Amino acid sequence: MKVLGIDIGGSGIKGAIVDTKTGVLVSERHRIATPQPATPENVAATLKKIVDHFNWKGKAGCGFPTPLLHGKCQSGGNLHKSWKGVQANDLFKKKSGIDFTVVNDADAAALAEMNFGAGKDKEGLVAVITLGTGIGSGLFYNGELIQNTELGHVTYKNEAFENYAADSIRKKEDLSYTKWGKRLNKYFNHIELILSPDLFIIGGGASKKLDRFIDEIETNSPIIPAENKNEAGIIGAAIAAAEGIK
Ligand code: BGC
Repeated sequence: MKVLGIDIGGSGIKGAIVDTKTGVLVSERHRIATPQPATPENVAATLKKIVDHFNWKGKAGCGFPTPLLHGKCQSGGNLHKSWKGVQANDLFKKKSGIDFTVVNDADAAALAEMNFGAGKDKEGLVAVITLGTGIGSGLFYNGELIQNTELGHVTYKNEAFENYAADSIRKKEDLSYTKWGKRLNKYFNHIELILSPDLFIIGGGASKKLDRFIDEIETNSPIIPAENKNEAGIIGAAIAAAEGIK
């Protein structure tokens, strides 16, 4: 099935047509900078531009970077506070004229990894952790997505762990990869204590540079990098729509 997959992020909104059987992009990728402020109105207008660019009338899925429940934003996340309470799938349909499946961005990236990447055929409990502006998570048990986990919001010193260990914090505080790796070591050990997963997969932008910090992280569960890299969000959003995830 061909599905339009869109990945909404803090800096860019990217879309492409995905063959959901193979997980391959069958169009070029179209990217538009995320409008600022990233309010519902502005983001929906940009999303419409992407739909129009592909002149798309078929199924569409979107990965969204806030806590969600059945397409409704539970908070504004790192986008904009006014998203709280917005039923994103309804808003996107109203603006673009087509049906949208809206899932959490980390769940989308994790769906791509489990179907076509590092998590393929992996049984048991698999925790996909995305390291980027925030820390996102996609949790799977025997290949089934346990939707809407927010493992970046486990607290450390009364704050969300992502405020201590996200890749954006490494950049902001100009941390060396070794120093950042030590923070991630605390994070992954904490998550391991809570979940005892069979496998960790590290996704998000930082997965490309895993060799620079992986030696600092010591867990019992194996940790491997994601394979789909930048395209995972787009591919996973398309899979979510094809599978009818709500
Ligand atoms: C949000 C998550 C999101 C993650 C990565 C966190 O701040 O709460 O929903 O998956 O950032 O974008």
